[in-house]
Amino acid sequence: MNDIRIAPSILAWDLGDLERAVEISVEGGADQIHLDVIDGHFAPNITFGPGTVKALRRRCDLKFDTHLMIDAPLQYVDKFLEAGSDLLTFHAEVLDGPKFDELYRPVKARGKEVGLAIKPRTDVPPWALERLDKISTIVVMTVNPGFSGQTMDMTVMPKLQKICGLVKEKGLPTDIEVDGGVEPENVGEVVKRGGNVLVAGAGVYGKKDPVRAISELRGRAEKARVKA
Ligand code: DX5
Ligand code: ZN
Repeated sequence: MNDIRIAPSILAWDLGDLERAVEISVEGGADQIHLDVIDGHFAPNITFGPGTVKALRRRCDLKFDTHLMIDAPLQYVDKFLEAGSDLLTFHAEVLDGPKFDELYRPVKARGKEVGLAIKPRTDVPPWALERLDKISTIVVMTVNPGFSGQTMDMTVMPKLQKICGLVKEKGLPTDIEVDGGVEPENVGEVVKRGGNVLVAGAGVYGKKDPVRAISELRGRAEKARVKA
């Protein structure tokens, strides 16, 4: 069983002070930083690009989990690799098998990891099932891409459980990341369904004490796992 990992999403912090956002994650003992890149086409918001990732890289050694919610990932994959991303997550909705292979090659060549994200109403496509061994992380979104602070869509839970079961059955080491509306109140349910990487924007940065919120989420997640 893969370890529980907490991945604060800096999109929920003051975008004028992202240096503090990464500091909070380090102080709170987060495992990785979730960086939401949105291009205004794939989803209705525009966030930040490789320049920001690069600037933060100079300030922080944690694993950078870059979630690319963009229509043309192939155009930017090298830029995000150069910027210092460790895990590059692409959306299934804009890919097919050959496109995935084209993205996989440069990431693999740099020794970095590829993730595959799916929106709440998307299933893992057949071409991705054939390539599961190349995907280090499946990102199951529990909100529609675009904004931090939305409520988790609990109707995604059966799909999450199904994906976790499939990975287990195949004996793969794939991480299952859950992204959208993760809070102390629902993190237990997510873990019981098999999620192990927990993204939290508002669930960390929206709290009075964000540093403590990281350990609180971890505590609740570990507890749910013991019970399961
Ligand atoms: C949504 C992003 C999420 C989001 C998470 O487009 O992919 O990562 O920022 O924030 P919360 O945890 O507040 O839903
Ligand atoms: Zn995200």
